[in-house]
Amino acid sequence: MRVVLGVAGGIAAYKSALLLRLLREAGHEVRVVPTTAALEFVGVPTWEALSGQPVTASVFDGTDTVEHVRIGRQADLVIVAPATADLMARAAAGMANDLLTATLLTVTCPVLMAPAMHTEMWQHPATAANVATLRGRGTHVMEPEVGRLTGADTGPGRLPEPEAIAAAALALVEQPERTADLAGRRVVVSAGGTREPLDPVRFLGNRSSGRQGVAIAAEAAARGADVTLVAANVDAALLPPDVEIVPVESTADLQAAMRERAGRADVLVMAAAVADYRPATVAEAKVKKSGDGLVIDLVENPDILAGLAREARPEQVVVGFAAETGDAAGSVLEHGRAKARHKGADLLAVNQVGNGSGFGDVPNAVVILDRQGAVVGEVEGTKADVARGLVDAVGALLDTRAAVDVPSELSAGATTLPG
Ligand code: CTP
Repeated sequence: MRVVLGVAGGIAAYKSALLLRLLREAGHEVRVVPTTAALEFVGVPTWEALSGQPVTASVFDGTDTVEHVRIGRQADLVIVAPATADLMARAAAGMANDLLTATLLTVTCPVLMAPAMHTEMWQHPATAANVATLRGRGTHVMEPEVGRLTGADTGPGRLPEPEAIAAAALALVEQPERTADLAGRRVVVSAGGTREPLDPVRFLGNRSSGRQGVAIAAEAAARGADVTLVAANVDAALLPPDVEIVPVESTADLQAAMRERAGRADVLVMAAAVADYRPATVAEAKVKKSGDGLVIDLVENPDILAGLAREARPEQVVVGFAAETGDAAGSVLEHGRAKARHKGADLLAVNQVGNGSGFGDVPNAVVILDRQGAVVGEVEGTKADVARGLVDAVGALLDTRAAVDVPSELSAGATTLPG
């Protein structure tokens, strides 16, 4: 594979020499494109010796072959490590004032950036906005590691280890082949977190980013399904292409959107974090400070998943999630089993949340239970991996039901028929 390794000007540039070695040892052809500032840290001879290819930071070298366009067009994968605040700002703005940024404008392959900078720079709203812009355009920006930085300071901003960067980057291009096994199926997925209004400016909400539901919608669409994503307050930058988006805000909106589409759906997935309670009354005007505390009466919301499962047609597959932390009364799995039985969904993905797991841009692990609480699968990895495992389980269930529906005279020889 042809890899472009962009190196921006930070002290962590030396770690990219190790990353380059790893990529070469794995058999990849690597073209290093440093910025001029990167060459202050690690020089051209190091990059040339380790990559076995010519190295320049300038668009004015190799003009006869129009290098920035050629390098970009030929690349199968681009890794920028370290990605400094300055490099990401220039990339987000679409600037092309050196060979690396010019190359970034010409590539169509996956791009992974591994940031490294001081904590203040990483957390600055300008950097956060640039990262959001880049992610919104499909660039994969890793979270920096937390740890010792250049000086005496510690915090988020350390370059992830070369092995982790290589693994994350190669995973982007080594996607397993997908078959269109869901072609002709209608899949409706809810994602995000509902918000319950208190008054015109305030709401009660939760921390769900919607990433897991988005990944499920994207996976189902990639496998040929006709997908609708009912998105409760999901960041627009995360929304997948090739999927119908229905934006909703409150639990009542989400329930109405799901019920409206349930009749025509083959598969319903409730990945949204639904507020269990809502304020009993919504004030028409902004609630003022009383100087004496505030008590809010809450009433329970309807259980959307349980309702969808109750009203489901026999051939329909209804999938839910169980966000559990485990407590004195039971483990994550025990709570999951009890939930599987009382929700009545065909599949329930039990997900441990809290302590950095589950919510946001973090890896995930789920155990998939059937409606009796028996384990039918386990998946661990990125949210895309979990989505793939879950959609596999849905596909298997649809196949089993289709096989059962086949009239007996047509089913002779079918291998998927249950005994
Ligand atoms: N869910 C729902 N309607 C609700 C609450 C949850 O449809 N009012 C769905 C979620 O989308 C998820 C599943 O039910 O698919 C389980 O959600 P979870 O928050 O784990 O469980 P709860 O039912 O809220 O139960 P508890 O908070 O008591 O664990």
